[in-house]
Order: sequence, then C-alpha cells, then structure tokens
Amino acid sequence: LLLIVVVVVLALTLSQKADNLKRTFIARCEKFQGYDCQKIWVAFEQAHVGRDPCNVPMEAYDPLFAEAPFKPACNRMMFWSKTKDVVHDFTENRDCFLTLEDTLLGSVLDGLTWCGKKGSSETFSSGCPGWKDCEKNPVRSFWNGASTAFADVACGDVTAMLNGSITTPFSPTSTFASIEVKRFNSMRVESLNVVLVTRKNAVTNCTNASLRNLQEELDDGIKYNCTEVAESQVLDCSSDPEKPCGACW
Ligand code: APR
Repeated sequence: LLLIVVVVVLALTLSQKADNLKRTFIARCEKFQGYDCQKIWVAFEQAHVGRDPCNVPMEAYDPLFAEAPFKPACNRMMFWSKTKDVVHDFTENRDCFLTLEDTLLGSVLDGLTWCGKKGSSETFSSGCPGWKDCEKNPVRSFWNGASTAFADVACGDVTAMLNGSITTPFSPTSTFASIEVKRFNSMRVESLNVVLVTRKNAVTNCTNASLRNLQEELDDGIKYNCTEVAESQVLDCSSDPEKPCGACW
C-alpha cells in the first residue's frame, strides 16, 4: 500500500510540474499582444511530445518559429556570450536593444527545461536530458534553432556584448560563435559592434586573439568595431533606464 501511495504521489508531482510549465509558458506568452498563446503552446508541444528526448532535431521547432516568427529589428539586435545577467539587466528596461530572450519565444522559454517521452503524450519538466547529455535534446535544439532564426533576421548595425573578464570572449564552442556569427549576412548586416564588458582587473581588451578570429569569421563587407566598457558603466545604465542608450558607451 505504501508503495502505491508513493508511486501515486510521485506521478501527481510529476504531472503537476508539467502543468506548471504550461502555466508559466502561457502566462509569459500573454505579456505579448496579438498572439494566440494556445496555438503557440500546441506548436511547442508537437516538437517534443512522444519523441525520444535525445532525438529532437532543430527542425522540429520550425512550426513553432512559423507561429511566432522573429521579426527583424534593424540596428537594435543585441547578441551576447558569457554576459547573460549583465546584458539582460541592461535590455530589460529599455527598447534600444533587443536580445533573443526579450522576444516572445525567447522570454517564454528562458530558464525552462522540458522534454517528451516515446509513447507518451505528455510534456515533462524533470528527468529530462541536460544540455550536454546528448546533442539533440529538446532544450538545446530549441535554443540552437532560435539562435539561427534570430541571427538570420539580423540587420543594420548589430551589437554583441562579450565578457572581457575571461581569456576567450569569443569562444568557438559558444552559440554566438558556432551559430549566430556564421548566419550574419552582409546583404543585411552593416556592422558588428562588440561591447567588451570589463572589470577592474580586466584580463582582456579589444586586441584579444579570439576577437581577431571573430573579425575573420565575418562575411566580407560587414564592418567591425570593438569598444571596451567598464561593467560599472553598463550597470549604471541598467539602473537608470531614462539615460539615453547612446550615452552608455
Ligand atoms: N548547460 C546549460 N545551459 C547552457 C550550457 C550548458 N552547458 N551552455 C550554454 N547554455 C545556455 C545557458 O542558458 C546559457 O546561459 O546558453 C546560454 C548562453 O551560454 P553562453 O556560453 O554564455 O553564450 P552563448 O553560447 O554564446 O549563447 C548566447 O545565444 O542565447 C543566444 O542570442 C543569444 O547571442 C546569444 C547567444
């Protein structure tokens, strides 16, 4: 009897968690006007439900990306690597820059974990493979697909906030290097402007070797700039959203 009770309670907590995931998804989605969030949820579900959680390809999310497309935001698109907190604190309260995580799908799924299971019609939010457990897990495939689609619509002057406190701010294994930079097209993208966020004992500046690789990776015709900006200066701008973006660096 005890075993049955334990199993039932476990099953209930698991399904509860999946319900929470849907609630979070819909609540975050409804902050955006003009979208059918139920329809977007269904498109999200079909990508992973009933599938082996290590065999969800990026393309499984194409119907989801078609339902809530990434729109080009010329001159405002902000990419980043190893600066997750500082970049989002900065973009959160101002419109001059837009990160993937500020878009509908990016903000809805930021920080969430999900997967399906073969032979089940449910979405699970625990017991799912981690980022590195297998290449084609639903979370990683979503973010790879979203980064591809977001970088594909990049246009005008594009900004990237990189971390000047590490020796390799442009790391070949990062999503920024391995996916996004490769998608920047000189027909659409005028320039890439690196904001290298530095601390007092900065180990890196704009002459960093990995940043030379970044310049070489860029499509011919895309201009390149790099500016070293103190982290305190970015934080000051985050806490004062009235300050014009042009005055931040
Ligand atoms: N485990 C879990 N999550 C990971 C892992 C990992 N090993 N590696 C990356 N991620 C997820 C995390 O959510 C992390 O905060 O990717 C995020 C970014 O990782 P970084 O290495 O800091 O940066 P990068 O890989 O370059 O990705 C950032 O991709 O999210 C898009 O458009 C966005 O330009 C941005 C870029």
